[in-house]
Amino acid sequence: MGFKNSRNLVGFLTLLCLLSPISSQSPIPAKQDGFWYRQKKGKDEPVLIEAFFDPVCPDSRDSWPPLKKAIQQYGSRVSVVVHTFPLPYHDNAFATSRALHIINKVNSSLTYHLLEAFFEHQETFYGKATFNLSRAAVLGQIAKFVTKTLGKSYYAAIKSGFTDSKTDRATRVSFKLGCLRGVYGTPFFFVNGFPLPDAGSALDVTGWRKVLDPLVSGKGKKVEEF
Ligand SMILES: *[C@@H]1O[C@H](CO)[C@@H](O)[C@H](O)[C@H]1NC(C)=O
Ligand SMILES: *[C@@H]1O[C@H](CO)[C@@H](O)[C@H](O)[C@H]1NC(C)=O
Repeated sequence: MGFKNSRNLVGFLTLLCLLSPISSQSPIPAKQDGFWYRQKKGKDEPVLIEAFFDPVCPDSRDSWPPLKKAIQQYGSRVSVVVHTFPLPYHDNAFATSRALHIINKVNSSLTYHLLEAFFEHQETFYGKATFNLSRAAVLGQIAKFVTKTLGKSYYAAIKSGFTDSKTDRATRVSFKLGCLRGVYGTPFFFVNGFPLPDAGSALDVTGWRKVLDPLVSGKGKKVEEF
């Protein structure tokens, strides 16, 4: 391609810059991302809570018990799906997130059990605890932790899962989904697709009830109220 003058060249380069992010975008994944809590769908169309959690984030840890308690009160009227969102400034956030994706693939009814175990023992995965450990040693430690939590039969699965590029990809997809939705910290919640106004601060049960009560009881109300 020849350029008659420098303006054409500048124009071409500008176009190239504008286009290149598109070509580097991740392809659309074949399956929806996320770990469903309990069943996927209730009888009625449930209110959907999407939670972006980092397994080694203390605020994510603190926000889960009240959310869990709240949704138990609503039964099938509220659905919850958790997406992993490993924050770059949390040690081993990606590796622990990946462990969740590995286990979810092996047996999805164990995912939340492992997530809660990570929440409970976060301090063994960041800061001084892993400061001097190699990546391999940390992955070994996570594999041991998963085995201790879920049982010996999962050791092989978790070990091989860490070398399977598909589980790496699945963890990246979660992260990219969060980026596309504007997630910039954890916990981060969406309710029926809308970001929760004070996402990031761990809501208590009362806080969740304030959000959910009008949505659940307001079924059939006119949308104009918006
Ligand atoms: C998955 O885990 C659940 C809960 O521990 C267990 O009851 C079930 O048998 C497991 N399924 C498979 C296929 O291993
Ligand atoms: C890491 O290893 C170095 C060298 O052995 C040691 O001086 C340091 O205290 C260790 N740091 C932690 C946090 O364990």
